[in-house]
Amino acid sequence: MAPSINNAKCVLVTGATSGIGRALALAIAALPSHPTVIGVGRRKDRLRELKEAGIEAEEFDVNTDRASMKGFVDEMIKKYPEIDMILLAAGIQREVHFKKEVNLDSIATELNINYMSVVAMITFFMPHFLSKAAAGQPCIIAPVTSGLAYIPAPWVVNYSASKAAVHSLCIALRALSKISPPLVESELHDVEGTTDALSKFWVPIDAYTKEAIEGLQRGDDVVSSGFAKVAYEKFEKPKDGMVSEMAKRSATHSKK
Ligand SMILES: NC(=O)c1ccc[n+]([C@@H]2O[C@H](COP(=O)([O-])OP(=O)(O)OC[C@H]3O[C@@H](n4cnc5c(N)ncnc54)[C@H](OP(=O)(O)O)[C@@H]3O)[C@@H](O)[C@H]2O)c1
Repeated sequence: MAPSINNAKCVLVTGATSGIGRALALAIAALPSHPTVIGVGRRKDRLRELKEAGIEAEEFDVNTDRASMKGFVDEMIKKYPEIDMILLAAGIQREVHFKKEVNLDSIATELNINYMSVVAMITFFMPHFLSKAAAGQPCIIAPVTSGLAYIPAPWVVNYSASKAAVHSLCIALRALSKISPPLVESELHDVEGTTDALSKFWVPIDAYTKEAIEGLQRGDDVVSSGFAKVAYEKFEKPKDGMVSEMAKRSATHSKK
């Protein structure tokens, strides 16, 4: 049976100080099973609010190098040895216009936050999860991607590519559950000043959270809704069988 969030004992959520990460962290903490929830972010005032809501709060900037990421993960495992799920929602979105000026530093930062930090967290949590799984405790790794991983948006090309990279990583690793939201109410677009325009189309955070939690409770491989679900079913789902086939072939190949 697919691992369900209903069996999770301790869930670490990055990006927990606003938007989707915050809503999911609060919803997970309110599950009947009452798992411990650890909310991670940079903004101290928001972390304080999480603490007041009964969530453990840890300050950490995921835009960092490998050594400090490893230090953070080791510290979390030591402090919360029960961690059996990570939900990786920290992310940023920047507009890039290739026909105008391109800021490569900004592109590298977006890639580091949206992709490299996810790869590094998975890498450093993996030995802990493997030993838990060997002892019979199923673990869940749930990176948040986006419908734009399936259909890239021309105004946020690097963001779309970063989410496509996370998506590709997930389907290749297969053991993972991942979350791909449509346009959802959050603070993601505040930096670019497009929040007002997008608020006319986005899915309200409460409606989205309910659907996402239900998917995590069922143990869906891909927790998707709205436009992201349509795009996933049309363009990505057919890949699943092919990836399994390739995995079988590579297992045969590596035995040789
Ligand atoms: N909203 C949507 O329409 C939508 C659609 C598809 C996918 N998504 C994805 O959903 C996830 C959450 O986004 P959101 O829409 O909820 O946006 P949001 O409200 O802006 O939340 C982003 C979160 O990421 C954290 N974060 C950003 N940079 C960080 C850093 N360097 N270190 C640590 N934490 C950092 C922020 O915390 P601090 O600022 O406190 O550090 C905040 O908690 C993202 O991965 C986003 O790409 C969103």
